[in-house]
Amino acid sequence: MKRIEAIIAILAIVSSTVPALAGEAETASVRNCTWCHGTSGRGFMTAPRLAGQRLQYIENQLLGFAEHTRDNPFSKQYMWGVAAALGPRAAHDLASYFSALTPNAASDGDSQLAARGRTIYVEGIPDSNIASCLVCHGPEAQGVREIPRLGGLSYYYLKGRLEQWGEGYHSAAVSPMPLIASKLSPKEIEALASYLSFVK
Ligand code: HEC
Ligand code: HEC
Repeated sequence: MKRIEAIIAILAIVSSTVPALAGEAETASVRNCTWCHGTSGRGFMTAPRLAGQRLQYIENQLLGFAEHTRDNPFSKQYMWGVAAALGPRAAHDLASYFSALTPNAASDGDSQLAARGRTIYVEGIPDSNIASCLVCHGPEAQGVREIPRLGGLSYYYLKGRLEQWGEGYHSAAVSPMPLIASKLSPKEIEALASYLSFVK
């Protein structure tokens, strides 16, 4: 009888500490991301904003880093190692955590170029056969399903991403973007990145 009571007591202790440990592990793994991606996932230096990004998109990118289909220098340097260490469950939990945070706009583009950027975003450039971005990324650039939010991402990050497809990076990832972005001129990229950095 004494032994059974002791076992029950131990079980009670174990089961009460498990959720507490899980909670600590979660904060620790979020901190593994936010020391680069900024407080509340609001971006820092070259690490983009994750707050309010689409859950499925974040998961897909983590897979892309792990499988090396997202292959520009910063991805290689900063994200390949991080993503290799994440299981699918942790990737899903982190994606769901960051997608639920409130996004904020970087507003760091050139405001004089924003109007031109908006026109391209909404209408595309029919003469150059460039599709409207709005059709996929949504009227408020908020994204939908696995298509990412672009609104409020930083000018430098957006500009870099739009240039990379034209330079041949990320070509192994299945995405319409290499075809779309490789047709944009440097001026059009600056205008789009400027506009989008201000979108709330
Ligand atoms: C050492 C710094 C560093 C750490 C730690 C880090 N990241 Fe990153 N992350 C970056 C950088 C830099 C980029 C931008 C890569 C590029 O320019 O393509 C990035 C890109 C990303 C992207 C792509 C976002 C987009 O809009 O396409 C996701 C998703 C991401 N990181 C998630 C995470 C998660 C989740 C963690 C924690 C498990 C994490 N990162 C930890 C530096 C870091
Ligand atoms: C046919 C649908 C479609 C159209 C049109 C489209 N996109 Fe995309 N875009 C996508 C998808 C899907 C992704 C995610 C790619 C991936 O998972 O690697 C993406 C990703 C992006 C990203 C990466 C965001 C990040 O967080 O790294 C940028 C920037 C982008 N698109 C800009 C644009 C711009 C600017 C236009 C208009 C000139 C445009 N897109 C038109 C579907 C589209």
